[in-house]
Amino acid sequence: MVSPKQFSSLPPPGANAKLLFFGDPHGDFEPVIAAVERFRPEAIVLLGDIQARRPLHVELGAILDLTEVWFIHGNHDTDSSLDYDNLWGSELAERNLHGRIVEIAGYKVAGLGGIFRSKIWDPRQPVVHAPFISAGMLRRSMRHEERWRGGIALRHRSSIFPADYLQLFQSQPADILVTHEAPVAHPHGWQAIDELAKTLGVQLVVHGHHHQSVDYLAEGLMTAAAPFRAFGVDMGSHLAWPPGHQDGTESEGPPQELLDLAAQVFGSAAEAWLNKPHKLLDGQTPAAFAAGDGPDKVRSMLVAIQYGGVV
Ligand SMILES: [Fe+2]
Repeated sequence: MVSPKQFSSLPPPGANAKLLFFGDPHGDFEPVIAAVERFRPEAIVLLGDIQARRPLHVELGAILDLTEVWFIHGNHDTDSSLDYDNLWGSELAERNLHGRIVEIAGYKVAGLGGIFRSKIWDPRQPVVHAPFISAGMLRRSMRHEERWRGGIALRHRSSIFPADYLQLFQSQPADILVTHEAPVAHPHGWQAIDELAKTLGVQLVVHGHHHQSVDYLAEGLMTAAAPFRAFGVDMGSHLAWPPGHQDGTESEGPPQELLDLAAQVFGSAAEAWLNKPHKLLDGQTPAAFAAGDGPDKVRSMLVAIQYGGVV
């Protein structure tokens, strides 16, 4: 039997949310467009590894009049010149939050795109030991033929330089920090992200890169005493913020009869199915979708599966 308690800490699917944070799109913007059309947030933030197949403003043309689009870049956004150009050459290029704080939907949002690469800076080492403090320093060390379009190598345009990090570190306080790398609560997270979050005094850290939807507090990987709340967001999925519905109450989770039905259909795998983002549900998990205004659709899917349908 699946207990509704297991879902009590799930963030709501997005109704009345001011901000939606989207996990790494990797070229698939259907879940982004569907969620914006459904929930109409004031703004959205893409958490990197965007890899738009056309310029980003073209890919998101259907929602540019519905919401404000912001992003950070990820390591895969410098995989090819096409990935790079469709992001940094897009009409939305100035919406990159990397290395700065911008007021979005009433929140001060700080951004740190890219990943740590030891050839540039291993953040476990003091900044003074970093091989390259800034992109300018790296460029000056490169031979002309090593440069890409006259600047640093394409790959390192998604590396985190100490100068970018320190610029944020010395900034004014912020409410939210969005990063591609994870905080230390993740097995592959970094203390440097936690230090940045604490110094900025943020209440929330949201990251991409690891393709996992994780509520670190609910999973017991952080305590309620932690100075900030942290979430990871899977590809094709989103996190709505602020949590709670318009009346300020927490999401109550899916109806019990639906949890019972899921347990009947999937047995011990019910929880895994309920918590895995589904493309028929705008990339949301069945649990989150059912906790909102979509229990009927989730019930229909379960019934279809129960009677041999493919969903
Ligand atoms: Fe990534």
